Amino acid sequence: MNIILIGDSGHAKVIADNVISSGNQVVARLDDKYTVLFQKDDCWYGPSSEVHSLIEKESAKVIIAIGSNPVRRKIVESLSLQPNQYATVVHKEAIVSPSVTIGHGTVVMPGVIVNAAATIGNHVILNTRLVIEHDCIVENYAHVSPGSMVTGGVKIREGVHVGAGATVIPMKEIGQWSIIGAGSVVIDDIAEFSTAVGVPARVIKSEENAVKTVNR
Ligand SMILES: CC(C)(COP(=O)(O)OP(=O)(O)OC[C@H]1O[C@@H](n2cnc3c(N)ncnc32)[C@H](O)[C@@H]1OP(=O)(O)O)[C@@H](O)C(=O)NCCC(=O)NCCS
Repeated sequence: MNIILIGDSGHAKVIADNVISSGNQVVARLDDKYTVLFQKDDCWYGPSSEVHSLIEKESAKVIIAIGSNPVRRKIVESLSLQPNQYATVVHKEAIVSPSVTIGHGTVVMPGVIVNAAATIGNHVILNTRLVIEHDCIVENYAHVSPGSMVTGGVKIREGVHVGAGATVIPMKEIGQWSIIGAGSVVIDDIAEFSTAVGVPARVIKSEENAVKTVNR
């Protein structure tokens, strides 16, 4: 499959490796740091507004290759593409139960394990070597960072960022657009728009994320 990446910074490099290792080809890297469309080494570079013509020209699908959850959502909303114009990329070294559903625009990195009956939304990032256990729900625009351990029946609501190496114990819910600090252990439900850190995780900021999200 031909893939167009929107975003051309650090996270996009990781996504590009993932796309290629999964047997796909990166045909364009679009980013608004570019002002004109140009081709280099068989790959197109240019502003993200070029995506519509390149989808046709290259028979390609799109991945938003930007790590920030609010920015990823903003770009999805501004492009107004159809769901079937997005790819879903699962690295060949990820282990995903056949009973798992995964939405469009989502990328599953190498070493990830997603166990039975988990539901993964659209434009989600499941980052390197994490575990999503059985019956979890991970909603649209979430990013679960490398090495995280999300145990059975956890609900990760829209736009949540789980920091690297964090653990969430079974059946807990992390409210929309909240952030969990790297290495934290979540043992209680976390309200929406909160930042929680530590072992056990305690909320250190509330609502500030709501402001950031509204102003994204
Ligand atoms: C949680 C996080 C977003 C907080 O960032 P922030 O809002 O800028 O907060 P600050 O750095 O001002 O820290 C606020 C307080 O929380 C503490 N804290 C921050 N992150 C922490 C963490 N992961 N674990 C424990 N305590 C943490 C700080 O020590 C500070 O404590 P103090 O007030 O007693 O001094 C950030 O520290 C973090 O962990 N990000 C995850 C990054 C990550 O994993 N990225 C993966 C990319 S693939």
